[in-house]
Amino acid sequence: MKGSDAHDLIAAAREVRRHARAEFSNFKVGAALETADGTIVTGCNVENATYGLTVCAERVAMFSAIAAGHRTFRRIAIVCEPHEPTPPCGACRQILWEFAGDIEVILASLRRETGRHQLADLLPQPFDKRNL
Ligand code: THU
Repeated sequence: MKGSDAHDLIAAAREVRRHARAEFSNFKVGAALETADGTIVTGCNVENATYGLTVCAERVAMFSAIAAGHRTFRRIAIVCEPHEPTPPCGACRQILWEFAGDIEVILASLRRETGRHQLADLLPQPFDKRNL
């Protein structure tokens, strides 16, 4: 998928959100990551009874993309139900930054887009391999 129209990317995030395992929080999230060649890789949040082993939708999408051999990314769409913008958690910002760099982060609810940000604005002064 090319260009700035994120319709297909948001639709993919809405679709994968249906698979979320969020029995504990009831907060379902879907994420769709667009690779440099236009491939869309998706992920949903997966919770479990210990709570602490929960993995967010964004990290499931990123780790799936890495496992499929993708190395460069353009943007990510993140969908949850609230109509207020719901930006990614700190852990996901870190992982997205380290593996995707300054990508566009598109936020949406089930009905509409709620915000667009550059990841660098969401994670100022990041820690990454340049600090090692
Ligand atoms: N969650 C995500 O999937 N992505 C985020 O960036 C924020 C939080 C999930 C984790 C947990 O399953 C639920 O939302 C409530 O925190």
